[in-house]
Amino acid sequence: MKKLVLTGAAGRLGSYLREPLSKMCDTFVSTDITDGPKTLFENETYVKADLADLDAMVDLLNGADMVVHFGAVGDEAPFETLLGPNFVGAYNIWEAAYRNKLRRVVYASSIHAVGMHKKTDFIGIDAPHRPDTFYGLAKCFAEDLASMYWDKRGLESVCMRILSCAQVSNPRAVGTWLSYDDLIQLVQRSIDTPITGFSVVYGVSNNDRAPVDNSKAQHLGYRPKDNAEQFASEIYAQNEPLDPHDPANTHHGGPFSSIPLGESGVAHLNLNPDDTAKND
Ligand SMILES: NC(=O)c1ccc[n+]([C@@H]2O[C@H](COP(=O)([O-])OP(=O)(O)OC[C@H]3O[C@@H](n4cnc5c(N)ncnc54)[C@H](O)[C@@H]3O)[C@@H](O)[C@H]2O)c1
Repeated sequence: MKKLVLTGAAGRLGSYLREPLSKMCDTFVSTDITDGPKTLFENETYVKADLADLDAMVDLLNGADMVVHFGAVGDEAPFETLLGPNFVGAYNIWEAAYRNKLRRVVYASSIHAVGMHKKTDFIGIDAPHRPDTFYGLAKCFAEDLASMYWDKRGLESVCMRILSCAQVSNPRAVGTWLSYDDLIQLVQRSIDTPITGFSVVYGVSNNDRAPVDNSKAQHLGYRPKDNAEQFASEIYAQNEPLDPHDPANTHHGGPFSSIPLGESGVAHLNLNPDDTAKND
């Protein structure tokens, strides 16, 4: 591949993807709204740009083969906060990809697009959208853009519905964990699979208690290697028994399923404070 672009490159997941993605292409362009990484890989160029600026996105994707789109506000927030980066930003990425004749958009979607389904429903990739928040609604919007740009304009997309890519720090994550190594494999397969059309896949490791079914995404060749069962007994011992009537425990979105719209869901995830973007 000649040129690959990564949005959200200064973010936590983006910081784990820069090095492996830089090895998959001749020219690697990373971008974010912040000042960006201190040091760059040999074939990497950094561009500071706002996803909400269509002209900037059209310039950014000029000459690219694919874009890996991870830039967004990564939590529930008031609709007005998400409108620019998550909704308009998604339109700008697909439109800029189309205008520049890219082959594919590889997109960091989320379980929150389907977060109001119950965990006892072992949902597949064809479960109907059922967002739990405005954040999840923006993921539904982007997935529908991806579907429409494939049907009407022949632009391929892989929408990776990531569950929880962070260290396992709460009982929910024993099912929902996506390790950083499996994240990298998932993005690599989403790029190097020859034909994807419009594809959806859950971003989850090979957990014994994974609550979603990826059997209709086999064509991507994603075979996760890590399993959160190794953390189960310790995590369960550290926590009180879970209330079976609280949607935070019974629905796929976890705390996002029970918080009021517009309020942070991440604040309820008990994330490990050391789990930050990889150092430069
Ligand atoms: N971490 C997870 O478990 C998880 C789960 C599901 C989906 N995702 C998705 O994966 C992606 C990355 O998540 P993360 O955990 O690394 O989040 P993050 O907040 O660390 O990274 C997101 C990046 O997007 C950038 N960004 C925000 N607004 C922007 C704008 N207007 N223009 C340009 N860049 C902008 C931010 O500066 C940030 O660096 C997000 O799209 C998120 O929704 C993450």
